[in-house]
Amino acid sequence: AKEPVRVLVTGAAGQIGYALVPMIARGVMLGADQPVILHMLDIPPAAEALNGVKMELVDAAFPLLKGVVATTDAVEACTGVNVAVMVGGFPRKEGMERKDVMSKNVSIYKSQASALEQHAAPNCKVLVVANPANTNALILKEFAPSIPAKNITCLTRLDHNRALGQISEKLNVQVSDVKNVIIWGNHSSTQYPDVNHATVMTPSGEKPVRELVKDDAWLNGEFITTVQQRGAAIIKARKLSSALSAASAACDHIRDWVLGTPEGTWVSMGVYSDGSYNAPAGVIYSFPVTCKNGEWTIVQGLAIDEFSRKKLDLTGVELTEEKELAYSCLS
Ligand code: NAI
Repeated sequence: AKEPVRVLVTGAAGQIGYALVPMIARGVMLGADQPVILHMLDIPPAAEALNGVKMELVDAAFPLLKGVVATTDAVEACTGVNVAVMVGGFPRKEGMERKDVMSKNVSIYKSQASALEQHAAPNCKVLVVANPANTNALILKEFAPSIPAKNITCLTRLDHNRALGQISEKLNVQVSDVKNVIIWGNHSSTQYPDVNHATVMTPSGEKPVRELVKDDAWLNGEFITTVQQRGAAIIKARKLSSALSAASAACDHIRDWVLGTPEGTWVSMGVYSDGSYNAPAGVIYSFPVTCKNGEWTIVQGLAIDEFSRKKLDLTGVELTEEKELAYSCLS
């Protein structure tokens, strides 16, 4: 039998946490033959709710779940973890300045970076979900210098999956037949959902999305804004932000990273930029990646047209500004 993998979920008493932990315990993230031990962290005001989640995990009698650690102590939560999914953070409340929200999250991610660096298992893989996801991941990277930069990522897979969903609805095809969309840049409304290399499997073979949709005005307009603003549309409809789709995307992200992407398919991940595609280096930027043997590689050599270039640059500028704002909170 396989050794259990320890998976940390921070903010586990929150909405995404509540959707995510049962998925992990069912094997959705790491495979149906991989036992897991869940580590759940939240803050003291949520301790009772967190314990309630733990009670439900016991009640669900998940065969793969070999243990549960529920704690408000970051060191205990981080000890020995192989995978860390960082969902906990400080949300933007009405009337709050961007800088104030940034400052709260910078201090959370700075201290959790140290706890992970000192106590996580070697080669721990980190996924930051909490917003501002890219910049929280960057702060975590900066304050956990002994964790390899390639192990620290942020979630843009939800945006990627939203783009697949929009194309599948537009063409009335199965979402599993659509692939290779790209989310470039920031997990924010400046992200660029790009379909220029996306394809659909049809009865007569693989076809470019551009050839099948034919409606360039939609692809260059409404499609992009729908994906960019989908989070806000969910909040309007549900009065709560996306949780099941975010949890599912987090599982997709880790599963593909650990177990590999299918041949011929790439996915979007926020990763430490090396300046590929002339994106700013030294920020966490979402790129198309393939994964193999537990490592991601940015897909190289894709043609970027003028329309796309502007959008890649715009979201890059925003990330550089966010980085500066985050650093100004440190001093
Ligand atoms: P939520 O407010 O329901 O849950 C957040 C939880 O984090 C709460 O239980 C809170 O007590 C906890 N928390 C706060 N500070 C903490 C700390 N220092 N350590 C540990 N836990 C802490 O929020 P929800 O809906 O679950 O969303 C979580 C985050 O995910 C938000 O920042 C949200 O903006 C972000 N998000 C990101 C998405 C993405 O695609 N990257 C998609 C959807 C949400």
